[in-house]
Amino acid sequence: MTARSGEPSVAGEYDPAMQALLQLLWGEGFLSPGGAGEVERLLEGSDIRGCSVLDIGAALGAIDELLVTVHGAAAVVAIDVDPALLAQLDLRIRRAGLGRQVTSRCVVPGPLPFAAESFDVVFSKDAIVQIPGKAALFAEVHRVLRPGGRFIASDWLRGSTGPHSAEMVEFFRLEGIAYNMASLEESAAALRAAGFRAVEVRDRNAWYLDLAQRELAAMTGPLLPVIVERIGRERALHFVANWRQLVVVLERGDLRPGHLKATKAN
Ligand SMILES: C[S@@+](CC[C@H](N)C(=O)[O-])C[C@H]1O[C@@H](n2cnc3c(N)ncnc32)[C@H](O)[C@@H]1O
Repeated sequence: MTARSGEPSVAGEYDPAMQALLQLLWGEGFLSPGGAGEVERLLEGSDIRGCSVLDIGAALGAIDELLVTVHGAAAVVAIDVDPALLAQLDLRIRRAGLGRQVTSRCVVPGPLPFAAESFDVVFSKDAIVQIPGKAALFAEVHRVLRPGGRFIASDWLRGSTGPHSAEMVEFFRLEGIAYNMASLEESAAALRAAGFRAVEVRDRNAWYLDLAQRELAAMTGPLLPVIVERIGRERALHFVANWRQLVVVLERGDLRPGHLKATKAN
């Protein structure tokens, strides 16, 4: 697998084996850490009842279902660059009987294909890490939000600026996904530069380090036979090596998941 950065994501990065492994860890329909519990934490203090929401990088759609059924969003537009993931999202949403509330749209990286002031909330869970050019992205998020609208995101951020450590380069190689990581401070500055107010950041490194250590223990213990049965020994052992390196970069503080919140002025 190769590591790429400075490039947008392409469809097919999350192949069926990776999707299976991530859902074993995080729950059916989730491709990011923590499943429903972490969505709950992200939305603490942010009431989205009755809001129209854009979800950037929606993938399989478990979160979009929660945004409506648990958190009371009136409507969600779920976008992603990967049509195969969105096909699964559509199926999930249809089965849940939420086709009127949740709609999906396959997009190409770049400007958001929506009119100005279209949404009350722009939400994203661990997808912005894949998008190069945070200034342009946050300007687009600001544009599509209504006055007073809110940006609520979890993102995979980095602990420092400058060249990545050798440990991070090895982590990127094992992940095989195009990552474009900013630091918490860079993200906050880019949000302010885009015109946002009340910018808040919450470092989630300690939480994810603890979770990743427990995931690694499961992957090298009771979960290993299940993973091998599902995706074969070679891929299973690859992901074990990937998770060992994940724990290393979390311990070093190189990888620093975080919550980002900001408001567009009225
Ligand atoms: C780590 S997954 C997270 C998926 C989902 N938010 C979740 O938590 O289950 C990141 C997703 O972002 C998508 N993505 C990457 N670049 C994107 C872009 N420029 N616009 C929209 N989605 C993008 C990927 O295809 C992938 O589905």
